[in-house]
Amino acid sequence: MSDSGYEQQRHKPPRRLVMTRKFGIALKYPIPEHSRSPRYELSDDTLIGQGNKRDCHAHPEDPSLCIKVARHPHNWHECHQQSVVEWYYLSHLRRRRVPFDHLVHCHGWVQTSHGSGLVLERVRNDEGSAAPTLNDALTQGQIGEREAFSLLSTLKSWALRHAVAIADLNTANLMLRHRAGQRELVLVDGIGSRRAEWKFTLYQIFPALSRRKTRREWKHQGEGLARAIREVSADTQGRERARATG
Ligand SMILES: Nc1ncnc2c1ncn2[C@@H]1O[C@H](COP(=O)(O)OP(=O)(O)OP(=O)(O)O)[C@@H](O)[C@H]1O
Ligand SMILES: [Mg+2]
Repeated sequence: MSDSGYEQQRHKPPRRLVMTRKFGIALKYPIPEHSRSPRYELSDDTLIGQGNKRDCHAHPEDPSLCIKVARHPHNWHECHQQSVVEWYYLSHLRRRRVPFDHLVHCHGWVQTSHGSGLVLERVRNDEGSAAPTLNDALTQGQIGEREAFSLLSTLKSWALRHAVAIADLNTANLMLRHRAGQRELVLVDGIGSRRAEWKFTLYQIFPALSRRKTRREWKHQGEGLARAIREVSADTQGRERARATG
């Protein structure tokens, strides 16, 4: 990875105060200046994951990285918002020296055939294989219900200890990584806030609010997540039993 990505993070992100009709003064989170070249060609061949708003592509030049781009051109700003939040929040956590045990490193913005893209560390296992999402790991029987709950509890303790705000907890936003003889969950989406708005600013200023956000997220989304884990895990076991009995 060229230095330019890190360079974008070394400087303080270019937040700026603007006047809005609704709230008076507000903070704006623009995408920082980034070089027009190189411009990476992305296609179905480079696609490695899809959410509702963004596509995730393998970086054409560096297998340890991926590039996230907005999915729907007609709704570009809305789709891009999570990448903008991710960039600002990961930069913020890095400056706060939060250990990135459950996060990916962010390498800044590049130009692609699909517009501006955010370059992030691609989640991989120690031996280099691509890590699965928690949903895929459960479906493929790579992890059982009990271990999934235990890893989630470790993730929650880490987030509360380091005041990391979690805003969208689900099995597609978590990946299962095998590192240094251990398995851990990695948050690839839904950190900081769902939107780059005033609450997002407050989470960066007040650790107590970030902790409250994470506790509330666990209370509201945690049940759905637990249900999804139980259901997928039960389905997988059912399939495995059926296969074993012929
Ligand atoms: N750092 C990463 N390394 C490897 N794969 C990733 C990474 N980030 C995302 N992915 C893959 O891409 C998929 C979509 O990414 P992401 O969840 O960020 O998109 P999204 O559109 O913001 O999602 P949502 O629908 O939750 O808003 C993930 O479920 C995962 O399979
Ligand atoms: Mg997602």
